[in-house]
Amino acid sequence: MRAYVLPAEGAAPAFAEIEVPEPADDEVQVRVTASSVNPHDVMVASGAAARYMTYRYPVVLGSDVAGVVEAVGDGVHDLTPGQRVFGLVRELVAARGSFGELVAVPRDWLAAVPDGVTEAAAGALGLAALTALRCVEAIAPTTDEVVLVNGATGGVGSYAVQMLVARGATVVATARPGEEEKHVRDMGATEVVDWSTGDLAERVRSMQPAGVAAVIDLVNRDRGVLTALAAGVLAPGGRVASTGHAADADALSGFRTVNVRAEADRAAMALLGELAGSGRLRAPVTRTFRMDEIDSAFAALRDGALGKIAVRI
Ligand SMILES: NC(=O)c1ccc[n+]([C@@H]2O[C@H](COP(=O)([O-])OP(=O)(O)OC[C@H]3O[C@@H](n4cnc5c(N)ncnc54)[C@H](OP(=O)(O)O)[C@@H]3O)[C@@H](O)[C@H]2O)c1
Repeated sequence: MRAYVLPAEGAAPAFAEIEVPEPADDEVQVRVTASSVNPHDVMVASGAAARYMTYRYPVVLGSDVAGVVEAVGDGVHDLTPGQRVFGLVRELVAARGSFGELVAVPRDWLAAVPDGVTEAAAGALGLAALTALRCVEAIAPTTDEVVLVNGATGGVGSYAVQMLVARGATVVATARPGEEEKHVRDMGATEVVDWSTGDLAERVRSMQPAGVAAVIDLVNRDRGVLTALAAGVLAPGGRVASTGHAADADALSGFRTVNVRAEADRAAMALLGELAGSGRLRAPVTRTFRMDEIDSAFAALRDGALGKIAVRI
């Protein structure tokens, strides 16, 4: 089958014919129709993810999956061929991926696509929506709390803002003026702070003098920078969730810190399906590329993403 792969260490990504991935026990083989690009895919493609992942070549690129069940392995009884599913490929070995005609993944990384959810939307849920869910679970907002989402304009941020608003929280979102600000307000943010000028912590404090209850940080990888931001904006007892592994529990000892790693399980994937099916979670797709334009989709993500960049497979 045809797939977009990293053929060998140091080689550039390219289309190649590879063996069809067969489903093992408790796995599902999906005929892929839609996906999207994530920063993680760019890291794997560049080889940079080798710092924390083992590569098994050829590495099929792509994390997000939407498509139709082609076959199921032994032990899978609740998904059947022909059924629409969405989900993701998420493991510490870079080997299988979604930018190909077929992918075989554990059943627990998938959920049924509800009626009314388009292929493009289903293909853009995967990693970003799951990560947003894990961030929101980590800070567990109560109704009427104020949460700062730093990096709100991207894939994870767009989903996190919607989930927080659906739980009754008030969101302060980072975005530059213009199209970005409009985007985060469309997602449900009520206050917007321009991260590109001035001191972010000071600007948030001027909007929320009593401090915010929690921070979801999708930007920082430097622990010192996130510590300064969190200490500057959080009210006593506040919580911080970081996707960049930048939440420093020692430096932020008065606060609850969580370094999020998005892991899929059946309940989380089913919840994302329910949220999307009921219209409470909209896939924030702003651009779509064809499969043969995946390198352009990667370039677009590197150049600056608003919401999600979808790929038709
Ligand atoms: N730990 C995990 O399990 C996990 C899982 C998924 C993702 N992640 C990480 O989470 C982060 C967000 O993922 P994503 O998919 O949402 O990425 P994304 O779609 O690229 O979004 C990142 C957003 O942050 C904005 N941004 C860049 N610099 C900023 C700054 N200084 N202040 C505020 N906003 C800024 C970007 O704007 P421009 O595009 O205009 O620069 C972009 O809109 C990435 O670092 C990703 O690697 C971690």
